[in-house]
Amino acid sequence: MNKLDQELTSQLRAIVGDENIYVDQETRIEYGHDETEDFNFPPDAVLKPQDTSQVSAIMKIASDHGIPVTPIGARTGLSGGALSLHGGIGLSMERFNQILEIDEQNLQATVEPGVITEVFQIAVKEKGLMYPPDPASRGSCFIGGNVAENSGGPKAVKYGVTKDFVINIEAVLPSGEVIWTGANTLKNSTGYNLTQLLVGSEGTLAVITKIVMRLIPHPTNDLLMLVPFSTATNACKAVSAIFKAGVVPSGMEFMERDAIQFTMDFIGEEPVPLKDGEEAHLLIEVDGNDEELLMKDCETISEIVAQFDCGEILFAEDQAKKDQLWKLRRRVGEAVKAQSVYKEEDTVVPRFQLPELLKSVKEIGSDHGFRSICYGHAGDGNLHVNILKDDMSDENWDENLPVAIRELFTSVKELGGTISGEHGIGYVQRDYMDIMFSEEHLNLMRSIKKVFDPKGILNPGKIF
Ligand code: LAC
Ligand code: ZN
Repeated sequence: MNKLDQELTSQLRAIVGDENIYVDQETRIEYGHDETEDFNFPPDAVLKPQDTSQVSAIMKIASDHGIPVTPIGARTGLSGGALSLHGGIGLSMERFNQILEIDEQNLQATVEPGVITEVFQIAVKEKGLMYPPDPASRGSCFIGGNVAENSGGPKAVKYGVTKDFVINIEAVLPSGEVIWTGANTLKNSTGYNLTQLLVGSEGTLAVITKIVMRLIPHPTNDLLMLVPFSTATNACKAVSAIFKAGVVPSGMEFMERDAIQFTMDFIGEEPVPLKDGEEAHLLIEVDGNDEELLMKDCETISEIVAQFDCGEILFAEDQAKKDQLWKLRRRVGEAVKAQSVYKEEDTVVPRFQLPELLKSVKEIGSDHGFRSICYGHAGDGNLHVNILKDDMSDENWDENLPVAIRELFTSVKELGGTISGEHGIGYVQRDYMDIMFSEEHLNLMRSIKKVFDPKGILNPGKIF
């Protein structure tokens, strides 16, 4: 992997203009981290190109000279995907911030990758449309980063994750070549599906410069309820029972008691009246166009949760209360991390195995002396496990943590799940890929990487 020298830096400067290249320490450090623990891997230069032709010209230079390029979005990622592990060019996509078209006839939109997800959601909502994927960081994350990591969020349980909405991508290959991966159609059986290959490829195969998204009509109503349970296991068991009864909620979130308490302390609001003996909560949303049907769904849900020893159900009576409860849920991650040095995992199992996964997390935690806080998208079987260091010595932490994670991931695999549901592998999970895949399987993936990126310059060090 080569370094940027003065000559190459001035060639890059000529492409993006003086004001869009940064080599100062402060900017490099700023762009050297995302939201993954406290890692910082600064690029040698931060570039902020404006259009596809500039990205193409940059990639040509990088490819000719073996310079690493790390695509950088809003740096909200949780697996270290945007870290410039090998220095080189940090390719910030922040100036790709236009919604190019909202096609109301075909229910599609073309967006640039640097558009903030929530900005996009609001823009399509104004036209009565919905873009459902809503990661907790939706107010600051970029849609391009969501595509790169195949992000999910609470609404995935009913509507699907990012991949389910991407139908076409304009991408710059490491060579500088520009391609469209598919067509702006809902069906496509034309050759290999490169669109879906790029979704979730974590910036390792190509630089995404435009995305065509499928949209749906925005439902007119939603109802939100918060259900306390005496044990986390009961909460988890209730989840599958609700789906079995034929209700498909548009949100089915799980929070352990500590997750709620930490978050209420952290944000200085107390929307949840936590009572003694309530160890976990489900936040359940239903949406649709018929209020009466939604009320019926809520009745069904109430009957089911009652079979699992639930406490008093809180119905959000107005939008303000809904906002308050969703805010609480969205900020759990941030709040838990503010407690201690931590390690966050993004485990996912078939929904019905959730109680087993939780049991396993707690057993492994107690074997190794770790406290863990769990929360996440219970309807998808996607449990975020935060392992806290608390006052454990550095030595014990460094020694025990990888062992505990390996045990956890092995158990996840045994339960039929996998090691990341929506955060990606990036830098922090790459050492555990052997748990999921055989060497042949990994080689198949490495070969795909080589076809796209024979020189290995694009986001090196990620996934493998
Ligand atoms: C969440 C993020 C951490 O669900 O994925 O809050
Ligand atoms: Zn999540």
